[in-house]
Amino acid sequence: MNILVIGSGGREHAVAHKVSQSDHVKEVYVIPGNDAMTNVATVVGTIAENEHERIVEFARDHRIDWVIIGPEQPLTEGLADILTAQGIKVFGPNRQAAQVEGSKSFAKQLMKKYNIPTAAYDLISSRDDALAYIEEHPAPIVLKQDGLAAGKGVVVAMTKQEALEAINELYVHGDNPVVFEEYLEGEEFSLMVFVNDDFIIPFDCIAQDHKRAFDGDHGPNTGGMGAYCPVSHIDGSIVELTNQLISYPIAEAMHKEGLDYFGLLYVGAIMTQQGPKVIEFNARFGDPECQVLLTRLETDLIEIIMALENKEAITLSWSEDTVVGVVLASKGYPASYVAGMPVHGYHGELDYYVSGLKQDDGWKTDGGRVMLAVGRGKTLTEAVNASYERVSRITSDGLFYRNDIAHRAMNS
Ligand code: AMP
Ligand code: GLY
Repeated sequence: MNILVIGSGGREHAVAHKVSQSDHVKEVYVIPGNDAMTNVATVVGTIAENEHERIVEFARDHRIDWVIIGPEQPLTEGLADILTAQGIKVFGPNRQAAQVEGSKSFAKQLMKKYNIPTAAYDLISSRDDALAYIEEHPAPIVLKQDGLAAGKGVVVAMTKQEALEAINELYVHGDNPVVFEEYLEGEEFSLMVFVNDDFIIPFDCIAQDHKRAFDGDHGPNTGGMGAYCPVSHIDGSIVELTNQLISYPIAEAMHKEGLDYFGLLYVGAIMTQQGPKVIEFNARFGDPECQVLLTRLETDLIEIIMALENKEAITLSWSEDTVVGVVLASKGYPASYVAGMPVHGYHGELDYYVSGLKQDDGWKTDGGRVMLAVGRGKTLTEAVNASYERVSRITSDGLFYRNDIAHRAMNS
């Protein structure tokens, strides 16, 4: 088979690497990819992610058997719809189904209608109503922009003052819908579920991300600063409960709504005193959870996708190892940062999944999140040490990273 991966981040680097190991696969292409992905695939950097017609043409010319769409943007723009209409198979939901991620209000309404546990919410479109809400509800309050924001459109306001500041930013262009949410307390985890309409294959290994920019879970929300799996301090029974209360019901709900979801559904969940609740759905693999989960997954990803297509059960097998990934990001991320900073110590090793590097007289930074150093080991401590050892081989004045990835598991 020939596989085309769409996207340019670390997640797509890991997906391309994983499918390149499949016995079913002959060629792997990535559009647009990045300069580091040549270690696992043919990088087609001349086509952009949003050039849908050119992607269709490329897929036809190169006899692509499956297109795997990595990021949310092309999904919500309907790339899957366009490819499918041309008879090209796609792993990734259509435009309408991708709204579970693309619109927080759409996802919230769906969960409300089908009794899927999530934080209570109000959709507030005017600044005056928002101010009234803050007067009536004590902090903490969670405010979410109602569109794609690369993990950065969320403010967890711990005080009234922070909530007021957030309002100034969220309504800066006048009235627009903002989701106001009840604050949930508990352990967060990321559960990936393969979905074909009402049929699902949940991952039986969960991962944990680190959303905040700095050590100790301080600083602004980011796309994710590191991840690890398995998460041994979250019991298998909680994962099972999450599947019963969330994964199966959401697939059933989307089926009843005629959404015809095909692809990966990410359940961002939080284990509260009242049980697991949804924080967010994503219509694609989490980044950086994908990189650690696919490293630990032994089952062929193409075989999973084929089983999913046929709605056949498949047992996923996992390495005994724990896998840890630490993100190296540009200083300043998730706010503005300087690109083009030299990076030394990287030589295309497969222990790194790269999201923001370009080759330009040596490696230079080219994005917010730049690369993820992967370590594995028989124990969590070994895996953490292995991944920080790989971090230490990289030198650059332009990068920072968290020193405490996997701290929740280490301290529990
Ligand atoms: P989201 O983009 O919706 O995943 O939100 C980003 C991060 O904000 C989450 O990973 C949580 O850490 C935090 N967060 C979002 N919603 C809530 C909530 N209702 N209660 C507490 N924390 C939240
Ligand atoms: N790591 C969370 C996300 O991909 O949105």
